[in-house]
Amino acid sequence: MSKRFTAFFILGMFILSLGLAGCGSSQPQQAAKKVLKVGSDTAFAPFEFQDEKTKEYVGFDMDLIKALGKQMGYEVEVQSLNFDGLIPALESGNIDATISAMTITDERAKKVNFTKPYYKSGLSMVVKSDNDTIKSFTDLDGKRIAVQIGTTGADEAKKIKDAKIREFNTAPEAFLELKNGGVDAVVNDMPVNDYYIKQAGGKDAKTVGAPLSSEDYGIATAKKNTELAKKFDQALEELKKNGEYEKIYVKWFGKKP
Ligand code: ARG
Repeated sequence: MSKRFTAFFILGMFILSLGLAGCGSSQPQQAAKKVLKVGSDTAFAPFEFQDEKTKEYVGFDMDLIKALGKQMGYEVEVQSLNFDGLIPALESGNIDATISAMTITDERAKKVNFTKPYYKSGLSMVVKSDNDTIKSFTDLDGKRIAVQIGTTGADEAKKIKDAKIREFNTAPEAFLELKNGGVDAVVNDMPVNDYYIKQAGGKDAKTVGAPLSSEDYGIATAKKNTELAKKFDQALEELKKNGEYEKIYVKWFGKKP
């Protein structure tokens, strides 16, 4: 045996032993730290938005996904993506799941698996507070409307007769366009509109009309990952039973589900 070989052999054994030692101590921890990559368009308060001070993503969806992850033994890692990029990211395997106030629709269900509904929602509209011509959805004919790209609000707005639709990457941009007078109304998810009026829109804007639709939000996973969708459903069921779901709901909406 050459000296060189012996030296490499000893080095090799040394490295191997380090590796084994490492395994022994970190294995239990590693098992508890499977990471779940979750995509979300984090500009949709109160469901997902960035806390100005801490820069953390907060909101109803964020609390829920963390609680679900914990229940399932995963560490959740949220990735901020454009809303219309979420389903493609699932399909390409870049993320494991999405939680993004996403409405369960037949169209989307062809591409992804949805969990059972976790939140009941619907569409409404926001107009300037001094607008008294738009009182219901039927008054939107021929009007200028802002929506977020790829949303159910965008789909609904496109059905309105002669409406001029302006599509924005995020909901806050659509609200800003209303504020600047570029559009007459924003069609968007009701709880988000209500939150906007309460928090940011203030005296400038108001919501009008009865909710246009009834929609259910679901967590989406890749079509081929049926296992994960089942785990989510089970965990959601457990959080509903143990009161955790209700706690999160009350925290963000001030009332029981
Ligand atoms: N619920 C609507 C939809 O599914 C809008 C969701 C937008 N979500 C967001 N995080 N921007 O189309």
